[in-house]
Amino acid sequence: MSNFKRYLVTAALPYANGPVHIGHLAGCYLPADIYVRYQRAQKRDIKFIGGSDEHGVPITIRAMKEGVSPQQIVDKYHALIKESFDQMGISFDIYSRTSNKTHHETAAAFFKKLYDDGLFEEKETEQYYDEKTNTFLADRYITGTCPVCGNPNAYGDQCEKCGSSLSPEQLINPRSTLSDAVPVKRKTKHWYFPLQNYEDWLKGWILEGHTEWKNNVYGQCKSWLDSGLQSRAMTRDSSWGVKVPLPDTEGKVLYVWFDAPIGYISATKELTEEWADYWCKEDTKLVHFIGKDNIVFHCIIFPAMLKAHGGFVLPDNVPANEFLNIEGDKVSTSRNWAVWVHEYIKDFPGCEDMLRYVLCANAPETKDNDFTWKDFQQRVKGELSDIFGNFENRAFVLMHKLCGGKVPPLHADVFDDADKSLLAEFEITKGKVEESLENFKFRDALSEVIDLARKGNKYMQEKEPWKVANTLAEKPDNQKLIDNCIHICLQLTANLAILIHPFLPTTAKKMLHKMKVVEKMLEWENAGKTKLLSVGYSLRAPELLFRKIEDAEIEAQIAKLKSGLIKPVEATNTKPDNTNDAGKEPAPVKAGIVYDDFAKIDLRVGTIVAAEKVPKADKLLKLQVDLGFETRTIVSGIAEHFKPEDITGKQVVVVANLAPRKMRGIESNGMILMAEDKAGKLHFVNPIDAIDNGSSVS
Ligand code: MF3
Ligand code: ZN
Repeated sequence: MSNFKRYLVTAALPYANGPVHIGHLAGCYLPADIYVRYQRAQKRDIKFIGGSDEHGVPITIRAMKEGVSPQQIVDKYHALIKESFDQMGISFDIYSRTSNKTHHETAAAFFKKLYDDGLFEEKETEQYYDEKTNTFLADRYITGTCPVCGNPNAYGDQCEKCGSSLSPEQLINPRSTLSDAVPVKRKTKHWYFPLQNYEDWLKGWILEGHTEWKNNVYGQCKSWLDSGLQSRAMTRDSSWGVKVPLPDTEGKVLYVWFDAPIGYISATKELTEEWADYWCKEDTKLVHFIGKDNIVFHCIIFPAMLKAHGGFVLPDNVPANEFLNIEGDKVSTSRNWAVWVHEYIKDFPGCEDMLRYVLCANAPETKDNDFTWKDFQQRVKGELSDIFGNFENRAFVLMHKLCGGKVPPLHADVFDDADKSLLAEFEITKGKVEESLENFKFRDALSEVIDLARKGNKYMQEKEPWKVANTLAEKPDNQKLIDNCIHICLQLTANLAILIHPFLPTTAKKMLHKMKVVEKMLEWENAGKTKLLSVGYSLRAPELLFRKIEDAEIEAQIAKLKSGLIKPVEATNTKPDNTNDAGKEPAPVKAGIVYDDFAKIDLRVGTIVAAEKVPKADKLLKLQVDLGFETRTIVSGIAEHFKPEDITGKQVVVVANLAPRKMRGIESNGMILMAEDKAGKLHFVNPIDAIDNGSSVS
C-alpha cells in the first residue's frame, strides 16, 4: 500500500495558556489519534508526537494579566492539557513541552545553522514601542483597526474577523494591548527569513507535487503562494522564549512560530535515540495534524525552514480540519463560549468514547461544523446505542439465552445466502475503512463501521432466532438455524471490536473483555476474518456498552454554556439571617480570581425609574432601571429595606450581563449591587456624582 518504512505523526502543540476545548480535539488531536491507532494496529513503525507550545505572546499576556510569571502559567496549563489528552485516550508516544532544555538547545542550534549558512537577512527597522511598559509591540501586543475590513480590534499579526494576515504597520490607530498607550516607533534589529527565495520551490513541491492534499489545505497554500511570499522576522524583542543564539542579543528571542514546530523534532529526540531515522530518512512518512489556522505555518514556513536547513524529511501530508462551532456560535475563550475537555470529563465520567464518537462523526473535515448538545445526545442514542451497542448486546443476550452462553458451531447444511453475504461484508467493510483512514476521511471510515453493525441488526431481525426458538419442540433441528445466526453475529461482534478500536479504544477493550479474548485480536490483519471466536468458547454476560444521556444533563450543559462563569445570585438571600447586637463579623475574603474572571462581569450605572412590590413576595421589589441604552426589569430582594417610593430616581450599579432569571414569574434581567453593613442593613452602591446612565464600572 505504501513505500514508507516508518511514520512520524505530529499534532499541533497547543499553547499552554488555557485548557483545551472540544474544538481542539475535533480539529486535530482526535483524527491524529485515530490515524495512529489504526497504523499501530497495522503494525507499522510509528511515533506520535505532541507537546505544549509554551512560548509566544498569548502566554506572556496571560501571565501579565494574572500577575504571575510565564513559567507559572505554562506549568499550570501544561499539566491540565496533558491530563485531558490522557483521559480522552489521545495516545501520544510523548507529550513534551517547549520550555525544556532539549528544545531550547535544538531550536537554538537550528537557528544558528541557518545563520551560519547566511540564510537570514539582518535588518534594523522602526517598530512600535510602548513607552509605558517599555516593550516592543509585535504580533498580539498591538491592536488597531483592520485596513481590510474595518474590524477595530485586529491584531498586529492577524485580523480574526476577516482572516487577513497583517503587520503592525498596517493597523489604523494602533494601540498597545498592554497599556492601551499609543505606541511610538523605535529602532530594533531582527533576523528575517526570506520566504520569497523558497517560493518557486514551494510552488513545485505543493502545487504540483501534492495535489492530493485536502482541498481546504491545498487552496490556502495556493492563495498564499499566488499572492507572493515576503521576508518574515524570525526573532522578537521579548524576555520569554528561546534566546537568540548570537552575541549581543539581550532581550531577543526566537519567534514562537520559528521555535514551536522545531518542538516536534526536540520531542522526538527526547522520545528515542533513533530520532534521526524518523526525521532524516526519506522513507519516513511525516504527517502533521493541525487546525486550519495553522496551515501556512505547517505547509509553507516550516517546510521552507526544513528545506533551508537541509537533511530533514518534509511533510507528506498536512490534514488540517476546519473549525467546530458550539451551538451555532464560534468558540470564544474570552466569552467562555466553549466546551472544555476537562469539564466534560468531570461532568460525564466514563463517557469519553461517546465524545470521541460524536466529534468524529461530526468532524469539521471539509467545512466548519456545529456541535450542539442535542445532536450529541441524539447521536449517542440513535447511532452508538441503538445501532452499534444494541447489536452487540443482542448478540450476547441471545447467545446466553439460546446457545448456553457458548459460541455455537456453524452448520454447513443450513448455511444460506443471507449468512454468506453478511460474512462477506466483514472483508468489504475492512477494505472501505482502511481506504478512508489512509486518506484521512475519518467520518466516512467511522460511518462504515456503524453501517456494518446496522447490517448485523438487519440480519438478526430477518433471522429472528427468538422466534425460531419457539419451534424447537416440534423441530429440534432448527437449533442449527439459531446456531448459525448467533455464530455469525458473534464473529461480527469480534470484527466490530477491531474496526471500532481506533475510534473508541475503551469500548473496544470492553468488548474484548466480554469476549474473553486478548488485545492481540485487535491487530488489523484480524479484521475481515470470520473465525475469530472458537466454537464452544464461553463468553461473559451481556452488559450495555453505552449509557443514555438524559435530557436534564444536556439542559444543564446548555445552561452552563449560556451563563458562562457567572452564576446568578439568589436575590432573596441578600438579607442576613444571623444578625445580633454586636453586628456580623466581616465575611472572609472569597477565593482568589484573576482579572479575566472579573472582566467578564459587565457593570453599568443605571437609574431606578420605577419600583413596585411583587405581590405575595415579602422580600421582592420589581424595578425598572434605565441603563441609557435600554430600560431593564430587575427583580431585587430589597423590599424589607426600602419603600418603592423612596428609591425611584436613585442611581445604582447593575450587573448588566447576568443570565436572565425568573422570580415569581417575572424575568429579572440583571442585579443591583448592594453593600451590607454590620447590622445587616442594605445600602445602594452608586457613583458619588450623578453620571450618564450606561457608564461602565470597572
Ligand atoms: N500553538 C499553536 C496554536 O495553538 C500551534 C503550534 S503548532 C507547532 O495555534 F507546530 F508550532 F508546534
Ligand atoms: Zn479584517
